[in-house]
Amino acid sequence: MKYTVLLPAAGSGKRMGAGQNKLFLELRNIPILVHTLRVFEQDSKCKHIVLAVKKEEQAFIEQLLEKHNITKVAAITEGGAERQQSVYACLKASPKEEVVLVHDAARPFIKQEVIHQLVKKASKLGAAVAAVRAKDTMKKVENGIIQETVDRECLWIIQTPQAFQFSLLEKAERLADDARFLGTDEAMLVERLGEDVHIVESTYDNVKMTTQEDLLFGEFILKSREL
Ligand code: C5P
Repeated sequence: MKYTVLLPAAGSGKRMGAGQNKLFLELRNIPILVHTLRVFEQDSKCKHIVLAVKKEEQAFIEQLLEKHNITKVAAITEGGAERQQSVYACLKASPKEEVVLVHDAARPFIKQEVIHQLVKKASKLGAAVAAVRAKDTMKKVENGIIQETVDRECLWIIQTPQAFQFSLLEKAERLADDARFLGTDEAMLVERLGEDVHIVESTYDNVKMTTQEDLLFGEFILKSREL
């Protein structure tokens, strides 16, 4: 089954403290954004890529696409102030495939088998997200004091990609937008409709490049994959 991927890339990456869009930082001399784009360029099941970018960065991103021979970008749209708005802008600009994936451009290490499981599950069941089990002991804390130890067995750390039947995500985004509801991920917008969101077990190396130490981890992951 073919899918379209929406890649929000319009953040500023303040937590990285790089003074520029963190997606332009390089791992092994290639920008993070290009690493992520390559995953989908090389996946024969990915039909279209849709990007949300900052207006002032669009020309530079178009140069990167050309330089690195990324050919599947069907649309580039302007991102919003919040990630959710950037994703919604992508969706509005997107060709309509049966399944649509939302993936943070800042997660360059996602594996193809996880993507394919997500697409399969979403096409059958409506919505599926990549997730890993919580490894540490988890506690609920208020004002610096532990309130409760949460049963780790039922705790998952949610990543992207998140896969949806196109019509379901469209509805969830529209209703959230109408209600000015801001979620922390797309799954939350679908949960809000009372629909089930399924889990696909992902890998711990699907890290989001967020702070400086993630870059070191990223270099290490790329090196280990070359071995
Ligand atoms: O900041 P964070 O790493 O959580 O952002 C996740 C992804 O969402 C990044 O790829 C970033 O470029 C994108 N984003 C966006 N528009 C925003 C904020 C973030 O496209 N307003």
